[in-house]
Amino acid sequence: MHTECTIRFLRSRVQRWRRAGEHIALVPTMGNLHAGHLALVEQARRLADRVVVTVFVNPTQFGAGEDFSSYPRTLEQDANLLVKAEVDLMFTPEVEELYPGGQGCGTYIEVPELSDILCGAFRPGHFRGVATVVAKFFNCVQPDIAVFGEKDYQQLLVIRKMTAELCLPIKIVAVPTVREIDGLALSSRNAYLTDEQRNSAPLLYKSLLQCKKRILSGERNFAALASRAESELHAAGFEPDYFEIRRADNLAESTVDTDELVILAAAHLGKTRLIDNVVFSL
Ligand code: PAJ
Repeated sequence: MHTECTIRFLRSRVQRWRRAGEHIALVPTMGNLHAGHLALVEQARRLADRVVVTVFVNPTQFGAGEDFSSYPRTLEQDANLLVKAEVDLMFTPEVEELYPGGQGCGTYIEVPELSDILCGAFRPGHFRGVATVVAKFFNCVQPDIAVFGEKDYQQLLVIRKMTAELCLPIKIVAVPTVREIDGLALSSRNAYLTDEQRNSAPLLYKSLLQCKKRILSGERNFAALASRAESELHAAGFEPDYFEIRRADNLAESTVDTDELVILAAAHLGKTRLIDNVVFSL
């Protein structure tokens, strides 16, 4: 596996592959890799000749007071996992390499509306930071395919919209959420949980499944279903940011005739903010 930290060397490697007619897949990550990330890498491996993984804790997607400085950085361990997964290139730039204009007054990508709801309402500027850094990676690597997890469902839709509206010739591929045996979605942030919190954490997914079951059995009062789930989470020690039943294609409010639904939730458990979702058809 090659490791590059400058855009110049990254580009020259990728260009050689492209000239040889090889297809390139990109998997953007913030590192501290787990089986969820590796599922994206495996999918990328299946779909392309060359796989590029970025490992970069992107400062512009963290708000003031969020965990940018404490976010787990485990580069050596990540590199070993990526070698085993037969990744061709790991890109690990410094902040200055990706943000030559600085972070405050540089150029940004905005994906309106979709970025302002749900997680975007609780983390202002988060999706602007995500869209910007992913657009930079798309520009540097110019992949044929880019792979993202359904775990971050709103992020996936923001990236799809950005890619379509910037007319980028990149196919966005989604991979289902990888979970622990008890249902908790794998996340680098799970490491922040105390033992006691770790025991309650799977309740978030359970509440999503319970709500899905109620909808599938005919309940249609979405507002009542969501507020019941929020109360149940609250009673179990969570501080929910939101619990919402939305249209799966664009996260607009769902109506009784929506066929494809997604239930999304974000909740704090102690200092840790957990997010999860379930997507299903009626
Ligand atoms: P990160 O949280 O490291 O996640 C990188 C990718 O892995 C994302 O596409 C995410 O949805 C996916 N992923 C995380 N946990 C997963 C799980 N349990 N199952 C399946 N996929 C999972 O998301 C980011 O980084 C950043 O916002 C990034 C897109 C890299 C931009 O900085």
